[in-house]
Amino acid sequence: MPISWDPQSQQFHLRTDSVSYVMQILDNGWLGHLHFGPPLAEDAAYTYLGPRDFLGFSNRQREPIPLECPTAGSGDFRVPALVVEQADGSTVLDLRYKSHRVTPGKPALTGLPSTYVEVGGEAETLEITLVDAVCGLEVELRYTIYRSRPLVVRGARIVNRGQTPLIVRAAMSASLDLPDADWTLLTLNGDWARERQIDRRAVRPGRQAVASNRGVSSPQHNPFIALARPSTTEDRGEVFGFSLVYSGNFLAEVEVESFGSTRIRTGINPEGFAWFLDPGAFFDTPEAVLVYSAAGLDEMSQAYHELFRTRLARGTWRDRPRPILINNWEGTYFDFDEKRLLEMASSAKELGIELFVLDDGWFGRRDDDTTSLGDWFVDKRKLPGGLESLAGKIEAMGLRFGLWIEPEMVNRASRLYEAHPEWAVGIPTRPRTEIRNQYVLDMARPEVVDYLFGVLSGILGSAPISYVKWDMNRYITEPFTPTLPAWRQGEFMHRYVMGVYALYDRLTKAFPGILFESCSSGGARFDPGILAYAPQGWTSDNTDAIDRLRIQFGTTLAYPLSSMGAHVSASPNHQTGRTTPFNTRALVAFFGDFGYELDPTRFTPEERAQVKDQVAFYGHWRELFQFGRFHRLVSPFEGDGNDAAWMVVAPDGRAAIVGFYRIQSRTNAGPKRIRLRGLDPAARYKVSVWPATSTPEPAPSLPLGGDVLMAQGVVIEGNRMNMEMGDFHARLYVLEAQ
Ligand code: GLA
Repeated sequence: MPISWDPQSQQFHLRTDSVSYVMQILDNGWLGHLHFGPPLAEDAAYTYLGPRDFLGFSNRQREPIPLECPTAGSGDFRVPALVVEQADGSTVLDLRYKSHRVTPGKPALTGLPSTYVEVGGEAETLEITLVDAVCGLEVELRYTIYRSRPLVVRGARIVNRGQTPLIVRAAMSASLDLPDADWTLLTLNGDWARERQIDRRAVRPGRQAVASNRGVSSPQHNPFIALARPSTTEDRGEVFGFSLVYSGNFLAEVEVESFGSTRIRTGINPEGFAWFLDPGAFFDTPEAVLVYSAAGLDEMSQAYHELFRTRLARGTWRDRPRPILINNWEGTYFDFDEKRLLEMASSAKELGIELFVLDDGWFGRRDDDTTSLGDWFVDKRKLPGGLESLAGKIEAMGLRFGLWIEPEMVNRASRLYEAHPEWAVGIPTRPRTEIRNQYVLDMARPEVVDYLFGVLSGILGSAPISYVKWDMNRYITEPFTPTLPAWRQGEFMHRYVMGVYALYDRLTKAFPGILFESCSSGGARFDPGILAYAPQGWTSDNTDAIDRLRIQFGTTLAYPLSSMGAHVSASPNHQTGRTTPFNTRALVAFFGDFGYELDPTRFTPEERAQVKDQVAFYGHWRELFQFGRFHRLVSPFEGDGNDAAWMVVAPDGRAAIVGFYRIQSRTNAGPKRIRLRGLDPAARYKVSVWPATSTPEPAPSLPLGGDVLMAQGVVIEGNRMNMEMGDFHARLYVLEAQ
């Protein structure tokens, strides 16, 4: 059994072959934390590891820390996991063990995305209930351990079993104390068009945090952090990952205390948050996924990739190969009509593309971004026959049809706003901030969610639509909902996210055949929570191949390739003005859910030939790219950042594709080798270069052993002065076991 309880030592031990998580009920009833990390022997007692006494409290001897759910105001001065305001205004808690139970599998969370099991035996869940005798608060801490994954999924339910209302001021999904501070902190930071750039720095005394207060998880910071030893590399050394399955305001914080231990906490951002609990009411935190790897960042990422792809994403499209799509956004922006779209679709079809996506601009009178959000009816000026005619004609060509929507928004210039100005988020006595000329709809109101479900189901049912791109193009300001009393306004941001999840849940259930792709000005809501509804997301509005190297590389720290939309766009690139070779753009976009975002009618004959080859190549290897094991090889965040490389390997190790990218050409650089990972050491691989024209070097003519490819690598330059003249070079190595 992965979860054991020993009444003798009062110890809980969650254990798999790769991790152990050990807790103990201390003499005074507190729940102490003993260990999370490498697996420990199953039947031993680890009391001695244990919590150390508080120092300096004369009347409180033998009260040890660390605890599983630390609270504030009674001696532990570090950041707390739980702050609850009581009837008298005080916030001190004294949480003591009440009961526990172990259940097979994993109970679902209501209204929140969560990881799941397919068969009960995959995982076990431990729920430990702690209680504060003074105010009647109960905390149910939940721990799920999967038999074959190096991780623990945590969360908590806060229940008011007292007689008076309580206000939850902070409720972390997980808090963990590590005994030393010899760690570096990895975070994914950025902004619009430069999402999820890896930052790595030493942890220092005091606190360091990343957070969002924007209503979405945000492109500035991602709800994922890792603590790695300073010497940890991709394939060596310890690392802990902390990922929050949530799409709204989050906090991920690290605190190094004066004795040199490290506390990590992650959960809903307490800033601006308050949740009112009447007697009998409860609050569920989102869940956090804590991964431990003793074998470097790669193994941590594998754990996230596999869990998120197979036990968080759900629905028809979870395991289905994703279509090669073309999206008209950068090809036309708002300027299109049916004729133009059909020309684009027809030329895309000739090239082998499988899905045509109509982006923004098809509804209301939306010729630019100043109007019509909320008016989800077809603009007959552009599409006289409606979506039915357009989608029907596209289907008749043998392509599938997809549609862009931005459900959570309204423009001031719209019929919806005229009819329901009160549905726009804002404080009645203050001006509303407009971002991209739009307001946010109050998703905390059930009637707004109902309305959107009605309108959008009408649209999705009106035509053969097989894909939806669900956008969300602004942050939330003036957070407030008149539907809640003054003392409950701190619930708004979380209720908003719950409303988004409710709408996603209803639409994905009503249209199970539709592939949903999430988007938020590119990657502003690229998080595990949204993956539970949309198995793929638009990684970034920045489609520049060179910028994408960093964006996609950083994203893979926590997210699988199957979750990352990646498109070839026109050159010079619309976001950066950079001119890159056509194939380089494809060779970057292959590592994700591949597609195009341009006007295919403008291709030169040479480009058409290249696209045909690209589509055929990706089509052939699609499952490897989307569902293979992904390894980062050369980081564009390290060294001079001029080179990047990564690879995917088939689950059975029989095939692999390596992508190598050189940003600026190097003259007389000398040979360079890239060691590969994840191959079968006993297999012999035929190595070919794709496209064949990308190298003056012939590929090695003899098959090479997996052992030598992993020990010595592929030789990138041989003795040539240049791989190829010119900047922005890319090439693939295709490895097939003989
Ligand atoms: C956002 C998206 C883009 C595109 C535009 C349309 O910026 O990220 O991909 O859909 O909106 O307005």
